[in-house]
This record gives sequence, C-alpha cells and structure tokens, in this order.
Amino acid sequence: LLKRSFSTTPSMHIIKNITVIGGGLMGSGVAQVAAQTGHNVTLVDLNPEILKKTEESIANSLSRVSKKLYKDKPEEGEKFVRDTKGRMKIMTDANQSVKDADLVIEAIVENMEVKHKLFKGLDEAAPQKTIFVSNTSSLSIGEIASCTKRRDRFGGMHFFNPVPVMKLLEIIKTPETSEETYKELMACGKALGKVCISCKDTPGFVVNRLLVPYLSEAMHLLDRGDASPQDIDTAMKLGAGYPMGPIELADFVGHDTTLAILDSWHKKYPEIQSFKPSNVLRKLVEEKKLGRKTGEGFYKYTK
Ligand code: NAI
Repeated sequence: LLKRSFSTTPSMHIIKNITVIGGGLMGSGVAQVAAQTGHNVTLVDLNPEILKKTEESIANSLSRVSKKLYKDKPEEGEKFVRDTKGRMKIMTDANQSVKDADLVIEAIVENMEVKHKLFKGLDEAAPQKTIFVSNTSSLSIGEIASCTKRRDRFGGMHFFNPVPVMKLLEIIKTPETSEETYKELMACGKALGKVCISCKDTPGFVVNRLLVPYLSEAMHLLDRGDASPQDIDTAMKLGAGYPMGPIELADFVGHDTTLAILDSWHKKYPEIQSFKPSNVLRKLVEEKKLGRKTGEGFYKYTK
C-alpha cells in the first residue's frame, strides 16, 4: 500500500508519521485512513471522552472495512485490523504529539482564533521538517498559516465526509507554499489512497465554491416563491441528471453549516452575490430545523 508509482526527487522525504489534531467527525476518518494505508498515526483531541468514543468508532469502521476487503480470508482481515490499530495512538497534548511528525493534519473547530492558538504552539514544538496542513472548509489557509514561521511548509488538505469512503482530496497551495511541500502533499494524498486535485487558496476551493452557491441559489428560488422544494429537486434530478436535488442535499449537509460558510464568505466578499444567504435558510437555522440531523429541514424525516 505504501508503494509509490512516481519518482521522488532527492530532497523529498516520505511522509510516514502523521499527527491528526481533532478527533471529531473528520479527524477520526483521516486518522483511520492514514493508519489503514500504513502510516504511523497519532490522534489528538482536547477531550479524552471524545478520543475514547473515536477509538471505538474507528474499531467498528475497521471491522466493516476488513469484512469487505477480506471476505474469504477472515484471518488476513483480523491481521489487517490488528496492524492498523497497532499503528495508531491517541493523545491529549498537541505539542507533545508533533515531536516526530512528518505531517500534521489539523481538523479542529472551524474558528480562526482557535486554529491560530493551536498552530502557534505546534510551530514551536514541531521539528523544522514537519509540514502542517489544515482541513478547513471555509477559512483561508494563508491566513491560518500566517501565525507560523513555516509558511513554505504549510498547505491545505481538504477531505470529504465520510473520509474512508470519499475518494477526493483537495490539495491547497498558498502563494507561500513551496513547490517541494506541494509535491510532498500530492504524494502523501496518493499514498492515503485518494484522488488528489490541486486548487489555489480561494474560498471553498473547488467543490464547496461550486456546491455552496448552488445550494444557496436553490434557496433563493424559494425566497422569491419561484418554485416549490419538490419541483426544484425533481427539476435538477431529471433535467440535469443530479442524483439528489439541491433542497434535499441542503437538508443532508445541515443548514447551520451552510449558513456559517455563507455568512463568513459574504462578510469577506460582499460583492459576490452568490455568497448572500437566503432568508429561508436563516429562518430554518433560527427555528433549529437544521435538516436530516434534527429530523426536519425543508422536509421532515422519520428516524
Ligand atoms: P467536529 O466538531 O466533529 O470535531 C472537532 C474536534 O476538535 C472536536 O472533537 C473537538 O474536541 C476538537 N478540538 C477543538 N479544539 C481543539 C484543540 N485546540 N486541540 C485539539 N482538539 C480540539 O468537527 P469536524 O466536522 O470534524 O470539522 C473539523 C474541521 O474539518 C473543520 O475545520 C471543518 O471546516 C473541516 N471539514 C469538515 C467537513 C464536514 O463535513 N464536517 C468536511 C471537510 C472539512
């Protein structure tokens, strides 16, 4: 799994030790995938309770993966689970966790101040060679990196939920990310089993830059009373071949997440009309109808 199908330049070091900071939805998936693909992984969260739960959910997910991968070879499947778990450790002290790290992947709360506080400490604690990346969905990588003295060794790795299932990885290069760092991140993304695409450090990168305004435009249709939620969804499924309509997809993503992203972009880029949140979105969030996860959004869901 660790074989690389490309030639490495002499200055490039192979990323072997990965520290993942944040053991929530995304961090747990990233840690699992990194360990599964042969990396030594340290998973960090401030909250030891979360780490315990995450360890359990990774164990469950690994046994599902092994049943699929080793259908007729249960012994090999058990070995796969044992070896993968053997490559993972958990910790609550972020600064301690980066001492031997080749790469640090940050997946903590989406808040610039909190991320700055974390990276300032890590910058002091980590060796010179260590590359830092953020998994942020909506913040600027360059702005996150600005609090460190290693802006040339700082980039973005934007994963998709659920990380073990979704093939795509967006690799983000800021104007200050060095070519060598960029190449190492692309190589590492491939070693993690992902299909990597590159994007500059722009709001939403590729996927969310297209997807979030698309969802928002569908909600603006509702604001204006142009069409019903059902008709919008049917239209995009049957007329554009999308597997899900934008209204049901927005319910799936969660309206709090979409509103937070749009609000932050709209504040920063007031001239871009497609970043302006719709009234109907704001109303749903106020009413705590956040979509599938709360049982109601534009549609109602029974569990
Ligand atoms: P989450 O809320 O599930 O997990 C965040 C975790 O970070 C929590 O367990 C929290 O205890 C921990 N944490 C917070 N501050 C910390 C600190 N200073 N040190 C160590 N641990 C800390 O959040 P989620 O959804 O996993 O998102 C994490 C990041 O990934 C965010 O930047 C988000 O924008 C990004 N992202 C989220 C996606 C999603 O679908 N939820 C998709 C792609 C990126």
